[in-house]
Amino acid sequence: MDLGLDGDVALTTASTAGLGGASAESLAREGAHVAVCGRDPERLAAARERLADVGPGEVLGVRADVTDGSDLERLVEATVERFGAIDHLVTSAGGPPPGGVLDLDDEAWYAAYDLLVMSVVRAVRAAHPYVADGGGTITCVASRTVREPMDGLVLSNAVRRGVVGLVKTTARAFAPAVRTNAVLPGPFETSRIEGLVEHGVETGEYADYESGLASYAERVPLGRIGDPRELGDTVAYLASSRGGFVNGVCLPVDGGALRS
Ligand SMILES: NC(=O)c1ccc[n+]([C@@H]2O[C@H](COP(=O)([O-])OP(=O)(O)OC[C@H]3O[C@@H](n4cnc5c(N)ncnc54)[C@H](OP(=O)(O)O)[C@@H]3O)[C@@H](O)[C@H]2O)c1
Repeated sequence: MDLGLDGDVALTTASTAGLGGASAESLAREGAHVAVCGRDPERLAAARERLADVGPGEVLGVRADVTDGSDLERLVEATVERFGAIDHLVTSAGGPPPGGVLDLDDEAWYAAYDLLVMSVVRAVRAAHPYVADGGGTITCVASRTVREPMDGLVLSNAVRRGVVGLVKTTARAFAPAVRTNAVLPGPFETSRIEGLVEHGVETGEYADYESGLASYAERVPLGRIGDPRELGDTVAYLASSRGGFVNGVCLPVDGGALRS
């Protein structure tokens, strides 16, 4: 299916690796020019190189921390300067640390709010004038935890729900010029899941890394962990005119793991 994204401009945040990176790659494969960002210069250079030949579009890499509002403004400005427009904004971020309600102090909660919610608010605020100009899309990478809490991930369970409220609000407020949606990933093979499994091994939840990873896969009806490309392709579909009547959804991409 041709998604019709040829020549579009997509700005993806936290995208030098992981699910943001996979989203940038799918959009690039579909012909979009992509801007990617991350904090680590080496990861940024590697991402630029990896994406360079994926599609016919150009790739812009900008060092930016999504928890820093001025970095996000700079990222938006650099994208517009290079490509003259932003048609699609895709927001991702790192994951918050694991922990239960009694394990985490105020600082950890505010840091998670900055990382998971304010990073999206600030990116949307900075990019909206461009995305709205001519009609575009916003797609937020959130988590299945907004539907069903996961043990030991209280920050993700509680704080991310702010993104759902934001998506539901902008899906009305920015329409019809802009469609806003979220994807809710289940377990995907990225460094985030590696970190969570390693933490589970340290705390004795899993005997070893392999059994920890297997336990994630066992909870998915499809019996496996997702390939990041599958998430990226869903993001590309939502950004495309093929998903032109999809607005305000929070779409699980989780192999059927959610029961709700
Ligand atoms: N993977 C899963 O199974 C899964 C499931 C549900 C939800 N999620 C959520 O989806 C989001 C993306 O997950 P992921 O698996 O892609 O994580 P990841 O593999 O850890 O990827 C993180 C990417 O984000 C960048 N990044 C992290 N913090 C950043 C920051 N403050 N500013 C700019 N870039 C930043 C990293 O580059 P630098 O480190 O160089 O900045 C890297 O490019 C996270 O919020 C995660 O919790 C993931």
